Amino acid sequence: LANGLGQTPPMGWNSWNHFNCQINEKIIRQTADALVSTGLSKLGYTYVNIDDCWAELNRDNKGNLVAKKSTFPSGIKALADYVHSKGLKLGIYSDAGYFTCSKKMPGSLGHEFQDAKTFASWGIDYLKYDNCFNDESKPTVRYPVMTRALMKAGRPIFFSLCEWGDLHPALWGARVGNSWRTTGDINDSWDSMITKADSNEVYADLAKPGGWNDPDMLEVGNGGMTKNEYIVHFSLWAISKAPLLLGCDIRNVTKETMEIVSNKEVIAVNQDSLGVQAKKVRMEGDAEIWAGPLSGYRVAVVLLNRGPQQSLPITANWDDIGIPPKTVVEARDLWEHKTLEKHFVNKLSATVDSHACKMYVLKPIA
Ligand code: GLA
Repeated sequence: LANGLGQTPPMGWNSWNHFNCQINEKIIRQTADALVSTGLSKLGYTYVNIDDCWAELNRDNKGNLVAKKSTFPSGIKALADYVHSKGLKLGIYSDAGYFTCSKKMPGSLGHEFQDAKTFASWGIDYLKYDNCFNDESKPTVRYPVMTRALMKAGRPIFFSLCEWGDLHPALWGARVGNSWRTTGDINDSWDSMITKADSNEVYADLAKPGGWNDPDMLEVGNGGMTKNEYIVHFSLWAISKAPLLLGCDIRNVTKETMEIVSNKEVIAVNQDSLGVQAKKVRMEGDAEIWAGPLSGYRVAVVLLNRGPQQSLPITANWDDIGIPPKTVVEARDLWEHKTLEKHFVNKLSATVDSHACKMYVLKPIA
């Protein structure tokens, strides 16, 4: 969407994966504090996004949305002011239907212009817009109403479409929003994570600056996967130019989680100015090669072992990953934080553990 936002994939945090409906203003404030104190905000994680369950089930007598009194007593405007004072941005959640997916708060269908105005007046910077409990008209009809409402609201608001139905939002999302879901909800497991990455890859050609495919939010740090599996999760999201929205409890973030999500070199792949989503360029049994171009003629590569048991030798051929034949390449290992001493011509091979990956940036030098 040409609103100037999302020139690179959005980065930040969202409440849903860890907290579900158990949110309140204290958690949101403490998360904002933690994003700053951990240094994550400096790395680019600036959106603090409130998901479902922040509002009263009933609108006020003028039809306005009202923050839930028991959990957000100070209101959303005060929260936005607080989050902004820390140099961060505030995101919120609504739905293109009569209720949100939890059914615990109203949706925006029929109230789009009023709600967009409310969000803008509160200082909201990001809207995630779900598709539950709608009137069964097409999302291609209902979503653009909110697009127009946001355009009229007088404040730039990143518009995240949370819809993955038969009409394939990837096919029409670029005109309507800044990102669109390509999959159902992720859960904190290897199988869920890897299938989301697969479904999202299908639409790689449709992502570009201003509009990104969204395979759902990160589960890194929520406990359901091994460290290597979370490294695969983060690597695939980064190379796929997916939104990097953390979904763990930032207030109690572990060293291991920090090591993964604060990898500057992997983040730089995600935020590269070229904005081209990587593709699976070769699959051989459990071995896969994902690759995509970066600015400066560089190429990002993930060598992925999806197998449950043994390690595998995996080779990326220049042919497959879009480097001209005979090019001499310098390889940077993004998880070892090492530039390999050897230079490579025509291919690069590595042994990759099961449910693990290697990630490189390859730079032509001759
Ligand atoms: C849907 C969305 C989730 C989350 C929940 C909230 O399932 O896909 O990301 O927002 O609704 O109810």
